[in-house]
Amino acid sequence: MLVITVVAFAHHKGGTGKTTSCLNIAGFLQKDGMKVLVVDCDPQANATVGLGINPETLELSMYDVFMSIFEGYPDVAINDVIVPTASGVDLAPATLDLVGVEPYLYSIEDRAGLLREALTGVRNVYDFILIDTPPSMGQFVINGLVAADHTVVTLDPGTFALKGMEALSTIFGDIREMLGENITADFAILTRWKGSGDRDAGRGGLALFLKRVLFGHSAEEEKERERLEKFEDEVRRAFKQVFTVSYSPAIYETQQHGLPISHYAPDCDAGREYRAIATAIRELSERDMRGM
Ligand SMILES: Nc1ncnc2c1ncn2[C@@H]1O[C@H](COP(=O)(O)OP(=O)(O)OP(=O)(O)O)[C@@H](O)[C@H]1O
Ligand SMILES: [Mg+2]
Repeated sequence: MLVITVVAFAHHKGGTGKTTSCLNIAGFLQKDGMKVLVVDCDPQANATVGLGINPETLELSMYDVFMSIFEGYPDVAINDVIVPTASGVDLAPATLDLVGVEPYLYSIEDRAGLLREALTGVRNVYDFILIDTPPSMGQFVINGLVAADHTVVTLDPGTFALKGMEALSTIFGDIREMLGENITADFAILTRWKGSGDRDAGRGGLALFLKRVLFGHSAEEEKERERLEKFEDEVRRAFKQVFTVSYSPAIYETQQHGLPISHYAPDCDAGREYRAIATAIRELSERDMRGM
């Protein structure tokens, strides 16, 4: 039996690294020889642009897939909107039109499972489907979570404590109530992480110790370091697996080139970190397979 793993990237706060994580993990999975589809469920279309596709040139997009269930709209399957991208990752693209879908969705009862239903059409084609969701608590996030086998939550250093997680837990709870399905976050990724310490050398490792002794730290730096350390501890207690991805200018550059970092600068710190996360996602999928 063919096993496919569907992963959603979620956090209702803007700019936590959902799209960046989705695309870069997709890139490394593709490099491993996996057949990968990215589904852009965000009207901002950042995943679409990040894979080098200009939304304005598209005739069909996820807008048409969602709208096809409504009377008077053409019958468009997800397969009809998928486009190849330069990296070899396939894309079900978004355009700004997607904004117009949400009010329609509220008019139907069966709205949470629409994406899952749409994906059944391509389940035999891909090894991995990665879903990028918008920074909201709306129907696209719910559809992404319901369609996914696994959820990755992204957090950035600007996230204060885990307060934001309460809102996400509310969505998970609502889905459980509506559909009887348990949604849990498998991984957390701390993105743009400048670090609370030198993790490789262990907390308060030698490098950090020497740096402090030799160069000292301003009171402000010290305070921020303590905040990040506390935050990281909190996240590590809340999630089964936590990854950190360093702040790296190559992330921005690679997005400008319409390529995942795997295909642009795989050996920079952020590249190696995303490489490790992609491997962990493959392991998750292999565990699922063994559990079947
Ligand atoms: N490790 C990193 N190093 C440097 N910049 C990064 C890193 N990760 C993400 N960024 C930058 O941070 C910004 C936000 O990232 P991204 O778009 O992935 O967040 P998002 O959660 O998808 O945002 P939104 O909620 O708007 O969809 C982008 O400009 C991206 O290039
Ligand atoms: Mg995004």
